[in-house]
Amino acid sequence: MKIIIINGPNLNLLGKREPEVYGNASFEDYFNDFQKKYPEIELDYFQSNIEGELIDKLHEVGFDYDGIILNAAAYTHTSIGIGDAVKAIETPVIEVHISNVYSREEFRHTSYIAPNAKGIIVGLGLKGYELALQAFL
Ligand code: DQA
Repeated sequence: MKIIIINGPNLNLLGKREPEVYGNASFEDYFNDFQKKYPEIELDYFQSNIEGELIDKLHEVGFDYDGIILNAAAYTHTSIGIGDAVKAIETPVIEVHISNVYSREEFRHTSYIAPNAKGIIVGLGLKGYELALQAFL
């Protein structure tokens, strides 16, 4: 089974960025533990701050992988291009947000990904990525 986690803009700063919202752990530390916990799964990770690179990655993996766990971060709320890419590919996508976007500013209540996602997990911290993975098993 091949699963990829794709993180969008500013998520490279996890652990340093607004720790009261996003926690103290870096994603790399979390991902290393995660890989050890699920050795039977081919688990990849990609992060970019650039919208087109996220779209290219969705195209690259979206006809081959078994599942995509996507936190498009701020692009979730703005990017018709990423929304269209999620619609265009065959691999199911689970949308994840670390924070509860519905308890935050109104602009975070819109998602261009959600209409074409298999499911959505919000507000459960980094644990949300693991819950998404389990949903693909
Ligand atoms: C986020 C929520 C987004 O609104 C925000 O722009 C992010 C992170 C989350 O994981 O909680 O960068 O996707």
